Amino acid sequence: MKTSSFSTAKEKEKAILVTCDESSKGLWKTEDRCNELKRLTESCDVQVVGSVVCHPKRITPNLFIGKGKALEVAELILERQANVVIFNNDLSSSQQKNLEELFNTKTIDKTQLILDIFAHRATSNEGKVQVELAQLLYLLPRLTRLWLHFSRQRGGIGTRGAGEQQLEVDRRRVRERISKLKRELKTITRQRDLRRVQREKFSMLTVAMVGYTNSGKSTLFNALTKAKAVAKDQLFSTLDPTVRKMSLSNNQTVLLADTVGFLHELPHHLIESFKATLEEVVDADILFHVVDLTSELIEEQAHAVHDVLKELRVDNKPLFTILNKCDLISSELEVNKIKRKFDNPVVISALYGEGLSDIDDLIVHYIQKDMEDIKLVLPHKHYAIAKMIREKGLVREEKYDDEGLWISARVPRKVKQQIFKRLKAKK
Ligand code: GTP
Repeated sequence: MKTSSFSTAKEKEKAILVTCDESSKGLWKTEDRCNELKRLTESCDVQVVGSVVCHPKRITPNLFIGKGKALEVAELILERQANVVIFNNDLSSSQQKNLEELFNTKTIDKTQLILDIFAHRATSNEGKVQVELAQLLYLLPRLTRLWLHFSRQRGGIGTRGAGEQQLEVDRRRVRERISKLKRELKTITRQRDLRRVQREKFSMLTVAMVGYTNSGKSTLFNALTKAKAVAKDQLFSTLDPTVRKMSLSNNQTVLLADTVGFLHELPHHLIESFKATLEEVVDADILFHVVDLTSELIEEQAHAVHDVLKELRVDNKPLFTILNKCDLISSELEVNKIKRKFDNPVVISALYGEGLSDIDDLIVHYIQKDMEDIKLVLPHKHYAIAKMIREKGLVREEKYDDEGLWISARVPRKVKQQIFKRLKAKK
């Protein structure tokens, strides 16, 4: 089933944006929230022809923004010939219905907009399944209003109208599709888990890149792994996590994971829907927080990223800040001012490859700090373990005798755990 919320394929749609002023809540000013919604809308190729701000004391259960403000928006729709209204806040299905009736124009909220952007960006099977599932879960409670409207026109007293029958058919079809997608997602998640176990066997350090959307994660990912993940000046160009190897200057290898861009107030249920994608973050050993240092909202965006990390319960992982796009700021004074806002950040330009060796140093240093001593006697049959120690660690001393190989080395903590796991399994 196709769930098109908001087509951007044909001629450009014209949107009026509506934001409820909640500046007393949190860091984001209303103006910044309006700008973020504008950027999201424009990234869908929709033209913004007006923006309205309303006050929270005017919030009403039926129209959300109160009758007076709603009529003001309705006038603006006519004046600017808009064909879609986008709310910066989540609307209930009945509010959406009431507003749509009053405006006589398609009315959506931020969740629906983000879902639409995700739907356009998803390329892998996993990404597509996750988006469709999230879209259908969003659609299900809203089906009622779509069909009851029809039913009211056609239905007779005591009988069920065509709309109601159709509603039941549609609901059933949506539920069936949801079950099918959930099963598919389970299979995909299992495959991903298998891959993770495989990686675990090689006990490689995994670094996940997180960051506000458009901060340059994919560009950095490409530069560090010399891969070709999509890097476009669009929000959420990365919907699917990509995991690739990155070779370090000391010949060691780590795994680097690129992830979906974060966003201010990423709706909770969307985080839930994309948990599988974000699992790379949960499983990573360390996190790189990529920050666009040219952003006027640098601190607000950094906070938004920390909020999502908190929600994923990974805010206790080692996190390094990477300030990106330094090529766009020529004043060193300015860069230093921004640097002071973060804890020991690395300054780079992913696009021009500046500062990438500092990232390499940072990982090498982290691995060295994370190393532990081991002293072992390995029976001859454990040749593979000896090989792993030589490849992944620093051997201090080794000698053979009748018992096997005596080895003293420093190895990464993860490798040490893996060695003991393997020795235990082979006893
Ligand atoms: P999402 O997928 O939305 O999360 O984006 P992202 O964080 O992966 O950003 P991406 O790498 O797609 O880059 C976004 C835009 O910033 C692109 O136009 C890049 O070319 C540009 N960009 C990235 N790094 C740099 C940089 O170091 N300097 C400059 N000038 N532009 C950069």
